[in-house]
Amino acid sequence: MIPWEFLESVEVPGEGREICLYRRGEEFSIRVAGRELMNSRVHGSEEALADLACARVADRPRPRLLIGGLGMGFTLAAALRRLGPEGRVVVAELVPAVVTWNRGPLGGLAGHPLEDGRASVHAGDVAEVLRAERQAYDGILLDVDNGPEGLVRKGNDWLYARPGLETAFAALRPGGVLAVWSAAPSPVFVQRLRRAGFAVEEHRARAREARGGRRHMIWLATREA
Ligand SMILES: C[S@@+](CC[C@H](N)C(=O)[O-])C[C@H]1O[C@@H](n2cnc3c(N)ncnc32)[C@H](O)[C@@H]1O
Repeated sequence: MIPWEFLESVEVPGEGREICLYRRGEEFSIRVAGRELMNSRVHGSEEALADLACARVADRPRPRLLIGGLGMGFTLAAALRRLGPEGRVVVAELVPAVVTWNRGPLGGLAGHPLEDGRASVHAGDVAEVLRAERQAYDGILLDVDNGPEGLVRKGNDWLYARPGLETAFAALRPGGVLAVWSAAPSPVFVQRLRRAGFAVEEHRARAREARGGRRHMIWLATREA
């Protein structure tokens, strides 16, 4: 078997933790504190996150999406496939090097979605974007971490706690949807979404598209019109 080759390591802004990029042949891995955050061979549920959200909002006039976490670009690419020419996607990415990797060695994995004119990058915390806007998005797609139990940074807890959820609610247009990816179920988080005013649906999505294996959680939380 080909051994993993270490490519680069950078600090997660404000955290002191390292985010690292590895390669093994055609396969890439992004790891934080020694744990895998994203592997290029496993992206079924990251695409399902966009597919499920877009099924709700893609046919709205000039749909606007916010994606938190670029990762390897699979969610972004799936959203762009679902949106028409009038759609726009802002992708917020906390770690500048992740954007650089997507413009370089990772770009081809999801078909270079950053080169699509409908996509733009906010280099920074998705929380900043949420706090800055009111009734601005038809869909907000969050995949910044392992789920409500954070791995990348402590600061991400805010996004999954009541203040962050209420801020996301306010940033959505009426009828808009907050879609949240998680590695594992969390009944407490579902309750929190409901208390923030959302109508919630739970979905289980295959990690590896049609090939079985683990299932991840996707919550679709609607700001009812
Ligand atoms: C699991 S990966 C996302 C995978 C992505 N859905 C895909 O399809 O490849 C999580 C990404 O979120 C980024 N991130 C973590 N916290 C963030 C935050 N608060 N704001 C924006 N990006 C964040 C990480 O640097 C990482 O690139």
